[in-house]
Amino acid sequence: MILNSRTEKDLSAIFIIFGGTGDLTHRKLMPGLYNLIYDQLLPEHFSIVSIGRRDKTSEEYRDEIYKALIKFSRNEIDSEYWNRLREKIHYYRFDFRDMSGYDDLKTYLDKMDIKEKTKGNKVFYLAVAPEYFETIVEGIQISNMANRKDAWSRLVIEKPFGKDLKTASKLNERILEAFHEKDIYRIDHYLGKEMIQNIMVLRFTNLIFESLWSNKFIDNVQITLSEKHGVGTRGGYYEHSGAIRDMIQNHIIQILSLVAMEPPINLNTDSIRNEKLKVIQAIEDITPEFLRNNVIFGQYDQGIIDGEKVIAYRDEINVPKDSNTETFVALKLQVNNFRWAGTPFYIRTGKRLGSTSAEIVVQFKSLPNILYFKDHNMQEPNLLVIRIQPNVGVFFQFNTKDFNTHNDIVTNKMDTSHISHSQGNTPEAYERLIYDILRGDSTLFSRWDEVEAAWIFADEIIKYREQKRVQFPNYESGTFGPMRSFELLARDGREWWKI
Ligand SMILES: NC(=O)c1ccc[n+]([C@@H]2O[C@H](COP(=O)([O-])OP(=O)(O)OC[C@H]3O[C@@H](n4cnc5c(N)ncnc54)[C@H](OP(=O)(O)O)[C@@H]3O)[C@@H](O)[C@H]2O)c1
Repeated sequence: MILNSRTEKDLSAIFIIFGGTGDLTHRKLMPGLYNLIYDQLLPEHFSIVSIGRRDKTSEEYRDEIYKALIKFSRNEIDSEYWNRLREKIHYYRFDFRDMSGYDDLKTYLDKMDIKEKTKGNKVFYLAVAPEYFETIVEGIQISNMANRKDAWSRLVIEKPFGKDLKTASKLNERILEAFHEKDIYRIDHYLGKEMIQNIMVLRFTNLIFESLWSNKFIDNVQITLSEKHGVGTRGGYYEHSGAIRDMIQNHIIQILSLVAMEPPINLNTDSIRNEKLKVIQAIEDITPEFLRNNVIFGQYDQGIIDGEKVIAYRDEINVPKDSNTETFVALKLQVNNFRWAGTPFYIRTGKRLGSTSAEIVVQFKSLPNILYFKDHNMQEPNLLVIRIQPNVGVFFQFNTKDFNTHNDIVTNKMDTSHISHSQGNTPEAYERLIYDILRGDSTLFSRWDEVEAAWIFADEIIKYREQKRVQFPNYESGTFGPMRSFELLARDGREWWKI
């Protein structure tokens, strides 16, 4: 992995994980930390304190993490690197609802800081259910754990950041009492994926793309984030989330803003975030007419995926039989600024669809059918496809002469993409994000005003969803969502590209 280390910084710190016995820590954070040590990107003076409720020793905890690494690390486990990581890991048993326990935790961390020479620097990583975010931040604040003048303290918050604008604002206000905005890292792990970062590189380092990157030359943009799997055992969580909160408010809005943003004046974090924010603010007004015409909801029924019969959403564990939660959303929206007005962005995301993939299709406008396509209206448009996962790379489609027939035109497809399993449910993104947190680079994290603007947009759609009763289930598992999603494009004479 080549990381862009802009400046050499001292990364010495204690990395404190609230939720150290949880799924996220085992599947992503620890593999991420292991691979950073493997790539020699972790400093010598570095400790990990994992907090959980369960009774276990550090030794037992380390053994557990070792098993998780074998399962989830993208690199094989090398005993030399594992031993280096192993000695840095400490388990601390503590119920974080117990406010009197934070002083003891502070004393423990202060002692460790002196012993391990970590210079007072701390990362507080909240890998816990969102209802605990405020409690933990309060504990950190009252025990004065994050207030050293001679050191830095950073707070990392997992998604979901609130469940609507109101709860997100309240959470944000609470956090700002304890941390400065610059020290808050709101995770959107999609931003850690290499191809997401590559969107800006593709656009701003290639004349042939950037000079055509507007409503003058682009017919439409399609963003698809599809998953084959259903909610599994997470039905209880998903019932309070649904596809809009789970995917649209965060990942899709972030991708949209990178695709549509103006070039920033430089690569500083705020310059980039300012341009992304302007895109979210330029999304057209969400009127009743917009909602009626441009938003499609779906919920999966039983069906066949990879030859196996799968159950309907309403039959999943912890899902009511009359659930009205959407597992699919398709949207058509306009970004109303000079660059994009008139070019639609079509978006769709859902569970139990025909494939697991994430990609952006940019369809360029067609040339007039005067010369080659005059007799047969068979012109294939230029397509640029940014493949995010599981294939990673770029696909480009263009027309050339068919040498076999002497007369015809054929469509050529250039594809630089390759399958990258590690980009699936990726620890690689977490590696990058953890490294950036240690370096103090928050470019790949969401600033509050971006989150706020995204909630303003998402809230309107959620409200509409809650009022509207759709006949669910309305798509079979293994397909690509309800028919109305196809009609959304057919109405405009277009179709979803399946590359
Ligand atoms: N898992 C993922 O792939 C994933 C992906 C994206 C975002 N997230 C987000 O990451 C966060 C964590 O998810 P997760 O899947 O890792 O959850 P999880 O498996 O349920 O883990 C929760 C953790 O919190 C700890 N905990 C709960 N109550 C506690 C208390 N009162 N005192 C001390 N520790 C307590 C648990 O410790 P004990 O086990 O010891 O009780 C456990 O370590 C959530 O916000 C989730 O939305 C997760």
